[in-house]
Amino acid sequence: MKIVFATNNKHKLEEIRRMLAGKHEIVSLADIGCHDEIPEEQDTLEGNAFQKARYIKEHYGYDCFADDTGLEIEALGGRPGVYSARYAGEDKDSEANMQKVLAEMQGCDNRRARFRTAIALVFRGEEHLFEGEVRGEILRERHGEGGFGYDPIFRPEGFSVSFAEMSLDDKNRISHRGEAVRRLAAFLNHIDA
Ligand code: IMP
Repeated sequence: MKIVFATNNKHKLEEIRRMLAGKHEIVSLADIGCHDEIPEEQDTLEGNAFQKARYIKEHYGYDCFADDTGLEIEALGGRPGVYSARYAGEDKDSEANMQKVLAEMQGCDNRRARFRTAIALVFRGEEHLFEGEVRGEILRERHGEGGFGYDPIFRPEGFSVSFAEMSLDDKNRISHRGEAVRRLAAFLNHIDA
């Protein structure tokens, strides 16, 4: 039985398929012919992840999981949080998002922040939530060219470099997404396909 991952991001698909070692067939939205604008109207990561997964179950009949990630900055009261992708506007511009965060935090000494990922799974009539987080701090300027999103301004706790200065393997070992995906994979790997 297929399980839909409510994404068309090839990297995310590849990552989870590798971790499941072929035990379950994971397909993308494009694979099931879904080109809908899936609603994400909730004000929490968990809410959005469940809204997406339930939408696929209801409209397409497949078991499904969906993820949502946000950067939560203590001094900004948890912002950008669930609005991380569109913090500086609808065009989801990472540079503009980082600039907005840096401007808002100018002169601010509390740099504490965390990335948090929620993965919602609708599976065999039940719902499950898998979470991951990584704590760190917001740098005062961009460092490094790798990664995506807010990586150049986030330094994970216990490291001297930003996410954008780490290899993808090193980042995945400690990241919010890595942790949530490992928890999902551990659950599915204990269940017969
Ligand atoms: P999504 O839920 O995976 O689409 O993530 C939402 C937004 O959070 C992205 O558009 C990025 O701005 C940010 N984001 C998510 N994961 C990361 C990460 O690992 N590094 C930096 N930014 C991230």
